[in-house]
Amino acid sequence: MDHLLPQSARPATGGHAGPLPAYRALVASGGLQADAAQERAAIKLQDLWERLRGYDPRPAQEPPASGFFGRLLKRRHTEEYMPLGLYLVGEVGRGKSMLMDLFFDVADVPRKQRIHFHKFMQTAHARIHAWKKANPGTADPIPPLADSIAAESALLCFDEFQVNDIADAMILGRLFQALFDRGVVVVATSNTEPDNLFKGQPGRDAFLPFIALLKQRLEVLVMDSARDYRRERMRGLRTWHVPADDFSRRALDKAFETLTGGAPIQPVTLTVMGRDLVVERAADGVARFDFDFLCNTALGAGDYLAIASAFHTVVLDGIPRLSPDNFDQARRFITLVDALYDQHIRLIASADATPDQLYQRGENARMFERTASRLDEMQSLDWLGIHQDDA
Ligand SMILES: Nc1ncnc2c1ncn2[C@@H]1O[C@H](COP(=O)(O)OP(=O)(O)O)[C@@H](O)[C@H]1O
Ligand SMILES: [Mg+2]
Repeated sequence: MDHLLPQSARPATGGHAGPLPAYRALVASGGLQADAAQERAAIKLQDLWERLRGYDPRPAQEPPASGFFGRLLKRRHTEEYMPLGLYLVGEVGRGKSMLMDLFFDVADVPRKQRIHFHKFMQTAHARIHAWKKANPGTADPIPPLADSIAAESALLCFDEFQVNDIADAMILGRLFQALFDRGVVVVATSNTEPDNLFKGQPGRDAFLPFIALLKQRLEVLVMDSARDYRRERMRGLRTWHVPADDFSRRALDKAFETLTGGAPIQPVTLTVMGRDLVVERAADGVARFDFDFLCNTALGAGDYLAIASAFHTVVLDGIPRLSPDNFDQARRFITLVDALYDQHIRLIASADATPDQLYQRGENARMFERTASRLDEMQSLDWLGIHQDDA
């Protein structure tokens, strides 16, 4: 993300280029707080950055590339000489994505791509589908898929590597083996250690070789900073804006931008019981919704659970006053709050009343009391994980 990088972090011709000097410059300028785990990760990334300078493996049928790696690749033992990739794992807010982006921006590799892992897999399935359509029969789609990906990128940086989908699990092993065979180097961020990927899911046994492959090709680096920097961004943000007018909307725009560090807003497609749920506005684990979209349509508990497992923060515009007259909306809202509460998802909202005034008197008012109390708790500094003493 360019906005994170000062000019001094750009690739330089002198001897002080790369992610480590870039990271240290950000710390020195006060843009980042010094963090030992991040420094360790930056050292690893720097090492990979050195080994990757000019890395440009070419498919076997093309004339061999000149230079060190070109000669190595000619030996057709790509995997033996290819630099090891990195797998940055840790809890949210530890700076994994920030460091990977720092590395990616300065990586001196002609063909490189930084992509959210979920999106990469969606594209992979779409390409397989198109390829099968164009080549009916029994031919294996993985080699041509790997050819096209490797032709585009010799370095792939995946954000938020995770496997929840059996369709992904079934192709990952062969796809990654094919990519590694073609010299593709992988850097990834994840909340899940390789050994725990796809854990407890049907078909896990068939998935184990992929885990072994990942551990063989990527060095696993645990980012165990004590601080959750993302959470600290919550500090000073108001979480409940009344009333739900244009002024509040702009306040939510601002909160969204602060929480995502200005990351590009993109749609994310979640799969809920075989159906697509398109989240139109998402960035960096934060999703933005209108109340009407979430609670005034045919969505239900399954959708809210999917949202609560895909995002760490929900920004919700325009909660109206609720009453027995719009009880369908109220009921959905209660279910939504339960799902967010159970998963400890942060909620920033605009509404026509404070939580305790939100449900107008009458039938079911008692039922809403628990929701109002949860909403109150979700705004407390304690719940948000902000400690008043560590200013
Ligand atoms: N050392 C640091 N000092 C200040 N802010 C940081 C630091 N490390 C990360 N951040 C900020 O904290 C937020 C979370 O970092 P991020 O890289 O998204 O975490 P992760 O990918 O591990 O969940 C980002 O906005 C990032 O810029
Ligand atoms: Mg991240």
